[in-house]
Amino acid sequence: MAYLWTKLFHVLFVISWMATVFYLPRILVNLAEAGAEPAVRARLALMGARLYRFGHVMFGIALLLGLALWLHFDRSGGWVHAKLTLVALMLAHFIATGRWIKRAATGAPLPSPTALRWFNEVPLVLVVPILWLVYFKPF
Ligand code: HEM
Repeated sequence: MAYLWTKLFHVLFVISWMATVFYLPRILVNLAEAGAEPAVRARLALMGARLYRFGHVMFGIALLLGLALWLHFDRSGGWVHAKLTLVALMLAHFIATGRWIKRAATGAPLPSPTALRWFNEVPLVLVVPILWLVYFKPF
């Protein structure tokens, strides 16, 4: 019972974090397209900074609940290690996006919108194998 509640809240916080993982890069594209409009840039940078902070909190709680499932409820296996590797890459992508947003707020140049659109596909490429590992537990 406690296991299922922990899993339910793990998934809830994972969904919340993933919402930020998918949306933060969209704000970055909008910043790259905002050109020299300081008011638009400032508003987007503020939205981005808030979403980034919210995402960190959601990730932190999802991580704690994931660790509880793994270590306390003993849902372990090689798949957890593979999953954690991919989650670490997703977190690195999230942090890189957040840093770009902070830099863009100071007027620093960003990669082209086309390059950023490709960068935005990375979380999708990572989430499919993560879910595959969780559901198929191949090892
Ligand atoms: C942050 C570190 C994480 C750890 C240590 C972790 C660990 C775990 C563990 C041990 C389970 C239990 C699996 C089971 O009982 O069958 C689980 C469930 C789950 N995890 Fe994570 N997880 C983490 C992050 C994530 C992320 C980032 C995602 C998605 C992108 C995710 C998606 C899921 C899903 C969907 C389930 C539920 C599977 C089901 O319905 O049975 N987890 N996690």
